[in-house]
Order: sequence, then C-alpha cells, then structure tokens
Amino acid sequence: MVLLRVQPNAKGVRSPMAGEDEVLIRKALVRDVPAMARLINGFAARELMLPRSHYQFYQHLRDFTVAEYRGEVIGCGALQIIWEDQAEIRSLAVAPEWQRRGIGRRLVRALLDEAAALGVPSVFALTYQQAFFERLGFHVVPHESLPHKIWGDCLNCPKFPNCDEIAMRIELNREDGDETQSH
Ligand SMILES: CC(C)(COP(=O)(O)OP(=O)(O)OC[C@H]1O[C@@H](n2cnc3c(N)ncnc32)[C@H](O)[C@@H]1OP(=O)(O)O)[C@@H](O)C(=O)NCCC(=O)NCCS
Repeated sequence: MVLLRVQPNAKGVRSPMAGEDEVLIRKALVRDVPAMARLINGFAARELMLPRSHYQFYQHLRDFTVAEYRGEVIGCGALQIIWEDQAEIRSLAVAPEWQRRGIGRRLVRALLDEAAALGVPSVFALTYQQAFFERLGFHVVPHESLPHKIWGDCLNCPKFPNCDEIAMRIELNREDGDETQSH
C-alpha cells in the first residue's frame, strides 16, 4: 500500500485540517465502481474523457487503481495490457477539487510500477492532457505507432474516425528516469 499526505486544493470544500489525513493509493474493489463511474462520466459529460458503463468497470476492475480519502474515491486510473510489449493507461481522473496535488502523478506511477512488475516495457495513453503526461516522462508519438488492437475500441468511440486525442508513450526500461521507482 502507498500512502501520500496531501491537502485538497484551495477550491476544495474540505476543512483546512484535511491535510492531517492521508490519501491512499490502492487497487480498486467492486465497491468502488459507482464512485469511479461518477468520476469518469462526470468528465465524459464535459467531453474530456470517454464514458464508461458500470459493466465495463466491473469487467475491467482488476485493471483499476484508486486514490481514496477517508473512504471516498477521489481519483482512479487503469492499466490495460494490450500485448506482450505494451499497455495503455485509461480512465485516469482526479476529482476537480483534488487536482494539482500530485494525485494524478501518484496514480500514474502506481500504474507504471504495475506495468514494470508485469514485465511490460512500454506504456501509452491517448489523452488531451499532454502537459501532465510530459511531466511524467511521456512523449508524443504518431497515432499510427499504436497497436492495431486499440482501433477496435476506437470503432465504438463517438469521435471515430476524427480522433483529436494525443498519443503519448513512455518506455520503462530507461536508466535515466524515475518513472518505474516506488512512490
Ligand atoms: C489529468 C489529471 C488526471 C491530472 O491529475 P492531477 O492530480 O491534477 O495531476 P498532478 O497534480 O499529479 O500533476 C502532476 C504534474 O503535472 C502538472 N499538470 C497537471 N495537470 C496539468 C495541466 N492541465 N496542464 C499543465 N500541467 C499540468 C502539475 O502541475 C504537476 O507538475 P509538477 O511536476 O511541476 O509538479 C486531472 O487533471 C484530471 O483528472 N483531468 C480530467 C480528466 C482527464 O483529462 N484525464 C486524462 C485522461 S487520459
């Protein structure tokens, strides 16, 4: 388990004492699904992410890691293995009042640790959050470099075939970064 001490940001509704508490980064449980769905689909309603059904969350539950504060899910993200040499970060989100407090970074690092532990050397994301992923060591790559398998999912996307998301990738076997180190 990974513990991170943070305070909610200035726009948050929680008390100033909240920083005394802890945010837990852990694997998702079935009980987290309604909260994860609310989080992701809230952003999806603003066209910042793709919507996910409860069924999709249950079906892929083992891919998910969550950030929890006092029993409440305040962030989540998934690592989906695509092939022997690559995995995708999906459904990454942090509740608006908790953003810019390092929780997205902790979630991504946990997912990269998971990829490294599974022996997957490369992780990509399709995202609008280029600056965030760059801060974590990802770089922009051409859409054409992504594995054909993901285009199956794209067929179900309302934006297909006019995808405006940015493809970003990180290699985990580098010796010059800290992306695969523990939190
Ligand atoms: C993208 C998202 C997950 C980032 O989570 P977060 O908890 O706010 O990010 P962090 O606080 O861990 O930020 C890590 C670094 O990225 C930077 N960063 C985060 N969001 C950024 C943005 N929109 N623009 C520029 N930099 C950003 C932070 O300043 C921080 O930089 P540092 O290395 O100097 O400290 C969050 O903004 C979010 O949920 N967005 C809506 C959903 C979404 O777009 N998800 C991505 C789907 S792939």
